[in-house]
Amino acid sequence: MKALLLAGGSGSRLRPITHTSAKQLVPVANKPVMFYGLEALRDAGVREVGIIVGDTAAEIEAAVGDGSAFGLDVTYLRQEAPLGLAHAVLIARDYLGDDDFVMYLGDNFVVGGIADLVERFRAERPHAQIMLTRVSDPRAFGVAELDADGRVVGLEEKPSEPKSDLALVGVYLFGPAVHDAVARLKPSARGELEITDAIQWLIDDGRRVESTVITGYWKDTGNVTDMLEVNRLVLEGVEPRVRGEVDAASELIGRVVVEGGASVARSRIVGPAVIGAGTRIRDSYVGPFTSVDRDCAIDRSEIEYSIVLRGASIDGVGRIECSLIGREARVTPAPPVPRAHRLVLGDHSTVQVSR
Ligand code: G1P
Repeated sequence: MKALLLAGGSGSRLRPITHTSAKQLVPVANKPVMFYGLEALRDAGVREVGIIVGDTAAEIEAAVGDGSAFGLDVTYLRQEAPLGLAHAVLIARDYLGDDDFVMYLGDNFVVGGIADLVERFRAERPHAQIMLTRVSDPRAFGVAELDADGRVVGLEEKPSEPKSDLALVGVYLFGPAVHDAVARLKPSARGELEITDAIQWLIDDGRRVESTVITGYWKDTGNVTDMLEVNRLVLEGVEPRVRGEVDAASELIGRVVVEGGASVARSRIVGPAVIGAGTRIRDSYVGPFTSVDRDCAIDRSEIEYSIVLRGASIDGVGRIECSLIGREARVTPAPPVPRAHRLVLGDHSTVQVSR
């Protein structure tokens, strides 16, 4: 069993963060989201992983290397343009050979891993096995229609009138028959070769497509709201540990991680929260569900339910909530007069200013 991990795509819904960085590398609890996927594959007994890369290839390769740090053997497969998930299977044809494989979307997050699914697939060997989960707005996903016996009869990609609330989770298992399907696909209305259409082809061709409805937690971390939510969830499971320096005037409450080389002075940190190596917190409050990455500085400020990326600084700005702050970003107060916001925002930024 091999795996294809998809780490291409432009990450348009996470702009401007993804103007300068791959969406699969945005950290959750200070660890890139795709690392959780790589670990899930390893824990399911997969060793050989083909990573599909696009424009952000260099960055992904720098982060993952040859995969040995994960106990994996990684091969990079270049997709020249984001032409769809089924196109990724098409270009991986030689790499995959006739092996069964797991296709894992690098921005998907499945709590509890995929070991059970992979085990079931190995035992039953259907032509494809998909995971479904109930969502509030199915129009944003691939959507499955089941018959009275719970068998998948139809799949539609981002339908305007969904036939159910069962969305396709971005983890799929395939036998080699999928290559027959992929070879016959035509681009969809959005100009992509859709994996949803390939699975539909298998169904129409009478091949066995199994599905599992998962009730556990799953998120496509493509937008900031979901990213913050996944961060919350992962932080809830962290084990508290303090490797850095915390002065006597500071207080740590609950699950708090302070990495080596970090320092906390005259501050209060209410977990779950992680403070990355080399980060400095002074005269501040860091509230629950906050991840502050390496080499940041937070001074005279309050922050809660947020993700702060490497090297950012926040100084004297009162309270920040539900925010994603990019690498090396600087958040500071404006001069007292005139009373105005002064902004240098990246392309596609979103700012909500409290009045
Ligand atoms: C893709 C699939 C979709 C699936 C989703 C899960 O959508 O096409 O069927 O439900 O991943 O994350 P995309 O991320 O390309 O919009």
